[in-house]
Amino acid sequence: MTNLSLDNFEVELQNRINSYLNSNLNSNNQIEEAIKFALLAPGKRVRPTLIYLVGDFYNVALENLDSLALATEIIHTYSLVHDDLPCMDDDDLRRGLPTLHKKYSEATAVLAGDAMQSLAIQIILEDDKLSNKLKVSIIKLLMQKIGHKGMILGQALDINFEQVSVDKEQILQMNYLKTGLLIEFCILAPLMVANKSQNKWNKIARNVGIAFQLIDDLLDLEESEERLGKATKKDHSKNKKNLPLILGRLETIKEIKKFHHETMESLSKLSLNNHPLMFYVESLFNRRS
Ligand code: IPE
Ligand code: IPE
Ligand code: MG
Ligand code: MG
Ligand code: MG
Repeated sequence: MTNLSLDNFEVELQNRINSYLNSNLNSNNQIEEAIKFALLAPGKRVRPTLIYLVGDFYNVALENLDSLALATEIIHTYSLVHDDLPCMDDDDLRRGLPTLHKKYSEATAVLAGDAMQSLAIQIILEDDKLSNKLKVSIIKLLMQKIGHKGMILGQALDINFEQVSVDKEQILQMNYLKTGLLIEFCILAPLMVANKSQNKWNKIARNVGIAFQLIDDLLDLEESEERLGKATKKDHSKNKKNLPLILGRLETIKEIKKFHHETMESLSKLSLNNHPLMFYVESLFNRRS
């Protein structure tokens, strides 16, 4: 374990990813400028933080996780850029700033999102600190998580479900696909770098990912636009199918508690003791933004 401080690790890791972002992004053309705008907006950086913390727990130097952390934040941000498009969720505000299609144009937002996907892969491929074998395994896993059987399928279901009635299991599966899989990647990929088995982490990774979307759906109902930096109370108006909207807030809170309890129990069996990862995962279950 490195010398991440328990009091300040979140800020330290956010600063790390933000400065790495800054030094890797140019604005030499209109697409680069748009990519930079979307990425430098103040996101919570949950995915890179998870990558750093899991790797750190297994003594991987943070430098060896930078490209993975950056690539994953780029993929996540691309998914938000496309998620906000008028043909998807049609949102005007993201991370407290105009969405990319509002700031520039719809075409720019589509193209910047497209370019962010190849940029993410390129950043991993160009990282000299990882072996070629490891890069292939990591990119293979990432492509499985975000592709036509993964995140994109989840996003397609999210849109289809606006037209039909669905049950709890279908919603949980959609959450897993559209949001869970990338978060799962953030927990499993650093294990690959550390050359550790994923067995004991699979369930944890799945639970953290599904619960992250359940909490997002709850916050849409309970929190303010100022706090979230995006429009709120919008899922109902768009006829979205999510757990709070079909089962109610209280049932959703119960469901989140189940995931929370199970996750913390599994983590405690991994002897995380006082590693910041334990505190960070706990904070993800209690987040209000
Ligand atoms: C929002 O993700 C979209 C979901 C997948 C639920 P975050 O809540 O991590 O958004 P940022 O990165 O902080 O903007
Ligand atoms: C977004 O889910 C999931 C992905 C971008 C893959 P939401 O549509 O609920 O996210 P927000 O609420 O717009 O951030
Ligand atoms: Mg959406
Ligand atoms: Mg959305
Ligand atoms: Mg949402």
